[in-house]
Order: sequence, then structure tokens, then C-alpha cells
Amino acid sequence: MSDTASTTAFGPVPPGWLWGAATAAHQIEGGNTNSDWWAFEHAPGSPAMESSADACDSWHRWPDDLALVSEMGLDAYRMSIEWARIEPAEGEFSLAALEHYRRILASAQDRGLKTAVTFHHFTTPQWMAVQDGWMNAEIVDRFARYADIAVQHLGDRIDMAATINEPNVVAGLGYATGGFAPGIAAGQVGLRAATENFVGAHVKARDAIKGGPGEFPVGLTLALPDLVVHPDGTLDGQGFRYDELPADAPGADYLRVMAGVYLDAAQDDDYIGVQTYFTQHVAPDGTVLAVPADERVTQMGWPFTPESLGRAVRHAHAVAQVPVIVTENGIATTDDEERIEYYARSLASLRQAMDDGVDVRGFFAWSLLDNFEWAEGFRPTFGLAAVDPVTFDRTLKPSGRWYAELVWASRA
Ligand code: BGC
Repeated sequence: MSDTASTTAFGPVPPGWLWGAATAAHQIEGGNTNSDWWAFEHAPGSPAMESSADACDSWHRWPDDLALVSEMGLDAYRMSIEWARIEPAEGEFSLAALEHYRRILASAQDRGLKTAVTFHHFTTPQWMAVQDGWMNAEIVDRFARYADIAVQHLGDRIDMAATINEPNVVAGLGYATGGFAPGIAAGQVGLRAATENFVGAHVKARDAIKGGPGEFPVGLTLALPDLVVHPDGTLDGQGFRYDELPADAPGADYLRVMAGVYLDAAQDDDYIGVQTYFTQHVAPDGTVLAVPADERVTQMGWPFTPESLGRAVRHAHAVAQVPVIVTENGIATTDDEERIEYYARSLASLRQAMDDGVDVRGFFAWSLLDNFEWAEGFRPTFGLAAVDPVTFDRTLKPSGRWYAELVWASRA
């Protein structure tokens, strides 16, 4: 193994630091039939490659998931609770679903793990999606009501909460291009409406969560690629990162709707969750500029750019001015050595940012398991553990063991 992949290179972590691994309900539970994603996966001509089907059967096998987190010696487990299960019909709440999540959280805490709970990770109940989903302003109150009921039931078992995961991705892909559920291609109209409602819902749900039992940090998690905007629309022209692009330059609007509005909203939060996977070059309207044919890419077709993490974290902290938690970072690859290289380099860039004074409080690897990667189906493998598609048995990969060693060394 190369020196850069040394498990001692990260060095000691600050007090209170959280090492974790992350999952999301729809990607692992299976049978999430009441959600807009299930409907989207099964719609004729859907851009989704395949059904989420049984996923990793974590609805039943969640004890195996917690066992993996413990086996790696991590501090925390990030998971999401499913709105479509907790409120299967408008205004009708399932105590059984809430109890299910309560059992997972209690069991995690009994193992000594901190619980990091996301209230919305990409999926929306289908009853809401058919009413225009996040384009409908009524979703703000409905989401806050769900968050309130969920926190009343679960709050004393939560150690950290995120209201909404990557609202910027859902607004763009779900409501502007239609490439994600609920598949609405309303362009700028969809993007603007969903963005406004996401910000409103975040603020209202955050207040609801804060008003419930338990005392824990609340924030949101943002997809924050290391974005480079090319005002002339080509890779050959000069590119500007977030803070370099003049406010009136072409592309400034795009940066605002993708990141600025959320980072501003996060100023009243306890932390900002940063989720970075790669450096992305875009035209001013957000059109992704194709990577050159000879560039190293991951299974997602994303450029292999682990150091993007350090840059994104610096930007998020500079704008939001609250502590940063890396709530997702990782790579889809079939080559587990490459995963180790990716994490070693992304973590080195994170360490550098911390040494330069950025207040970072934790790191969650995406993902604990190989799972349902949304429109791409089960092909991309992000997991620290593999899942057998027939028996659902979980097997920790060498990268999982490498991560465990790094975590151990950082505490020594
Ligand atoms: C999402 C995850 C997803 C991952 C890799 C993030 O956009 O929060 O659900 O699996 O990135 O694409």
C-alpha cells in the first residue's frame, strides 16, 4: 500500500469528533412502495435503470448494518427515516413505522453509537408528489408537521439531525430536468419553486425539531461539488470557483440556487453538512461540461478528484460560518484499492483545511453498504461493505478495514 494510504496520516482528531458511515432509507430498506421514487422507478420509460426492489433488505436486516458500524469501531451511524412510511396517507401517521425507527435508534445507542438522523433523503410520499411535490408551497407546513410528529416520537434517541438531504439535487433533477423522482421537467420554474419551498421547509422543520425532546445539533446537508463555472460555456475558457466568480457574471445565479441560498439559510443552523464527491465544470446555466476522454473517472462517470473535498469544506465554512460536518464522501468503484486511495486523499485535503483553521467536527463515509444508487440502480458500488443480492449477507471490504484502522489510529 502506498504511503498516501497510511492509516496514521490523518493524525489525532479534536474532542467530540465523529467518525461515521452513512445510509439512506430508500437506498437500503427495500419495498418502499409508497414513495415517489418507487412510482418513478416503475413508470413506463422511466430514466431509472431498475427497481429498488428489496434493496439491501435493511427494513429487516438493520441489526446487521449496526453490527458493521460497530465492527469498524465508528462513533456514529447516519441513516434516514422515511416520510412515506411514517405518513402513508396525508395526515395519517404510522405508529408502527415510528416504533420501527425507534428500535433502530435505541439499538444503535445501546451499542454506544451516536445516531445521525436525516428526515428527508430524496424520497417524498407519493400522495404529496402527485400534488406537485416540492413545487407546491403547501409542502412546507406538511413537512414541518411530519418532522414534528417524528421528533416527538424519536427525539430522545437522536444525537444529530439533518432536516433535508441535498435539496439542491432534488430541486434540479426532480423538478427542473426530470431525471430524478418525481420526474417533473419544469425547467427554471420548477427549480425556483422547489428551491424556495426547500428553504422554507428546512427552516420550519428545524424549528419543529428543536422544539421536540432531546438536545442535539440540527442542520441540513448539501451537495457541494467543487464547482467551476466557465462563463464562456467551454472547458477551454477560464473557470471560476464559487468565491472567485463576480456576483454579476454569467453563472452567478446558478451558484446561488445550487449553493448560496442554502449556505445562507445554514447560518442559523448548528452545522452545515457538506457532501462532496468531485470537481465539476459547468456552463453558466449549469450544463455540465463533459470531462475530457482521457480523464480518470469513477463508475458514476465523475472525475476522480478526491481533493475536491477540502475545497468544498473551505467554501461552505467561509459562507455559512458554522461548524462543518462532512456528512457524505466516497467513491463508486469496483476496485477497492482505488476506494482506499480516494479516501486517503480526500481525508488529507480535509486535514489540510482543518489545519488551516476550518472548524470541522466529523466525517461520514458514503456509504456503509453497496446499495440502490438512485437512477443508476445497483451497478455503482459505493460501499465499505458488499451486500450479496441473493442472501443479503454483508461483507466488510478491505476499505472498510482500512477505515477502521484509520479511525483507531486517530484516537491513539
Ligand atoms: C446522495 C446519496 C447518493 C450519493 C452518491 C448523494 O448525492 O445523498 O444518496 O447515493 O450522493 O451519488
